[in-house]
Amino acid sequence: MKIAIIGAGNVGASIASLLISKQMCDEIALIDINQNLAKAKAIDLSQMAIALGVNISVISGDDYKLLSDFDIVIITAGMARKDGQSRAELVKINADIVAKASNKIAKFAPNSIIIVVTNPLDIMVYVACKASGFDRSKVIGMAGELDSARLKFALQNHLKRDMSSSKSLVIGMHSDSMIPLIDENLSDSELNEIKSQTINGGALIVKLMNTSAFYAPAAGVINICEALINGSTKVLSCSVLDSNFIAFSRPVVIDRSGLKEILELNLKSKDREILDKSIEEFIIYINNLNINSANFNFS
Ligand code: LAC
Repeated sequence: MKIAIIGAGNVGASIASLLISKQMCDEIALIDINQNLAKAKAIDLSQMAIALGVNISVISGDDYKLLSDFDIVIITAGMARKDGQSRAELVKINADIVAKASNKIAKFAPNSIIIVVTNPLDIMVYVACKASGFDRSKVIGMAGELDSARLKFALQNHLKRDMSSSKSLVIGMHSDSMIPLIDENLSDSELNEIKSQTINGGALIVKLMNTSAFYAPAAGVINICEALINGSTKVLSCSVLDSNFIAFSRPVVIDRSGLKEILELNLKSKDREILDKSIEEFIIYINNLNINSANFNFS
């Protein structure tokens, strides 16, 4: 199993570190326009593997040719949020980065599965799918797993019990209109407080250190990689494209060939309204990107 990571920043390097410590693959490629950064992290990670007694090689560079024969390619490249910035403000610059990366992935690793992490996540899933020309079952966005972890963290702090195997999860867009589905008996004011902590979970970290989270986002990617490597019947929350080419996180089953199944959502009418409104916004963003323009070489 060969896993490539585009973008050797905090999220990319944290993913590589987890892949090594969990011994999930044979080879890792770290691709970054900053070759020195990629090289330095590849050396550090290789030495980490040796120290742990793990036989995984880490190659690096800025050339997508390194990706030939890779099974999974994870796109983390792009600008991260600064304090006060919404994920949506990153849309134009990151769409360009993700489109170019996806074009090259299609060229050099045409049989791979793409995991998208770059924000604004749901729009980038669409961009990666269009720019790669891959079937939509081969492009999976990581957001719901992260947001669900934030929801469980808020519940755990409130209820003072372990929530790691709770069925509560977050679906919808990776934005302020995400929808926490809480599987606990709580009062309306408790529910509102937990939802607010979940929705603002990423922004709190950005506020504290002026850049985005990386450990929990990396763990969300690992959950998807585990399902892709081993096949799984476990339900994950991932941002995938439906037949209308709308992406948002929803309960899915992922196996070795990618997205296997999107599970039916039975939403309360209030949540359905939030989702429908965010889908409308998604469509406006997509149309504004002029995504079929020659600029992006889209198919
Ligand atoms: C966050 C960024 C990674 O939610 O979207 O922390």
